[in-house]
Amino acid sequence: MRKNIVAGNWKMNKNLQEGLTLAKELDAALKGKTLNCDVVIGTPFIHLASVATAIDLSKIGVAAQNCADKVSGAYTGEVSAEMVASTGAKYVILGHSERRAYYHETPEILKEKVLLALANGLTPIFCIGEVLSEREAGKHFEVVKSQIEASLFNLSAEDFGKIVLAYEPVWAIGTGKTATAAQAQEMHAFIRKTLAGKYGETVANDTSILYGGSANASNAKELFSNPDVDGGLIGGASLGVDKFLPIIEAF
Ligand code: PGA
Repeated sequence: MRKNIVAGNWKMNKNLQEGLTLAKELDAALKGKTLNCDVVIGTPFIHLASVATAIDLSKIGVAAQNCADKVSGAYTGEVSAEMVASTGAKYVILGHSERRAYYHETPEILKEKVLLALANGLTPIFCIGEVLSEREAGKHFEVVKSQIEASLFNLSAEDFGKIVLAYEPVWAIGTGKTATAAQAQEMHAFIRKTLAGKYGETVANDTSILYGGSANASNAKELFSNPDVDGGLIGGASLGVDKFLPIIEAF
């Protein structure tokens, strides 16, 4: 079944103590509340295990922001999907545009990461999105479709059913320039149609497609009111409970 999800992406912010404080504050703020969405926080690797033991995991899911494309072994500095899962994290953000751009993660590398995440019981939150020049050239649909095809369309329908997608137009990330609700809906509907073409209507309708890119308390309600926008992947506005809670409550 398609779920509404509000997921925070802390990126490389907050030391361990600050991160734990934020996670506990969020946990306290959600206590006793009935929510209309699932809540996830994507923390740096070193926070995962401590955060997972400090919060109510039935209320807040924990996500890593990356995992290795190899199972285990001599890969100094890498963190495997199995290690992520062993912390209590249930999700992993993969294919973020910052990983693609700054760390040269190719569609082939991401394909391996997705397979390893799934093999270890993690839900990938798989990011896709065009850069500004691609949108200006009218290539945004084509770009997003090929990102999905290249890293995910090798999956069986059953495995694809475990994926959460996040459409994040790169020109909207951290820029304060949000896609309009109409632009988000147009792309999300296109993505769902692309999924339906490959896996059929049921899988397409059951897939959660989040929007990311300067989403905040003032625009979340309008973005989430679109029929094909099932939540958000939130960067800057996930770094404080005062900013993140109203986004969760926008559902
Ligand atoms: P932003 O980041 O909300 O700060 O634009 C979103 C993301 O990169 O996931």
